[in-house]
Amino acid sequence: MNNLKETYDRLLNGNKQWQLKKITEDPMYFDELSKGQTPDYLWIGCADSRVPDNEITGSSPGDIFVHRNIANMVVHTDMNLLSVLQYAVEVLHVKHVIVCGHYGCGGVLAAMKNTENGLVDNWLRNIKEVYYTHRVELEAIEDMKLRGDRLVELNVRHQVENLAKTATVQNAWKKRELQVHGWVFNLTTGGIIDLEVMKDELEDMPSIFHYS
Ligand code: CO
Repeated sequence: MNNLKETYDRLLNGNKQWQLKKITEDPMYFDELSKGQTPDYLWIGCADSRVPDNEITGSSPGDIFVHRNIANMVVHTDMNLLSVLQYAVEVLHVKHVIVCGHYGCGGVLAAMKNTENGLVDNWLRNIKEVYYTHRVELEAIEDMKLRGDRLVELNVRHQVENLAKTATVQNAWKKRELQVHGWVFNLTTGGIIDLEVMKDELEDMPSIFHYS
């Protein structure tokens, strides 16, 4: 039990140290922070503990509005994500929406296997659909690690497209500038790769997806 308490206390003690450090650096820090948020970015990332948005981008509290789930998915029936997206775009007026995947993603790797995992398979099936769409390219890659890495990239690209299919993003495009980006974080180097799949206008999408 001792170990359980130690583990638990580590976070609260860490908070006390962080709070003290911030106040020491700037006595007004929390007065400023509590005034409100005007983030320029919405981050849609993986729930993986190794991909903390603020830390890997050298940004700070207040900079990034965040939604994270298994394998950084944009699922059209996900009320949670759609609500976060609407609030970020229509109320916070973020300038950039970033889907950030990462190599070695457990969700993507699980979707490449045939093992049954229970409830989560309903979520992972969305990634299987991406795999199936690109199966010829993917199955030409014999190294399973490289095949997984490629599926991570293709999955990010599809989630960027899913964002561009939403009325929220398209309505923003009618009024102002908004860029949707796809990134991959490389855990082995710490670097972020811009997949250069940015979408910033209706014409970036096939016409069947346009709302007039
Ligand atoms: Co992941």
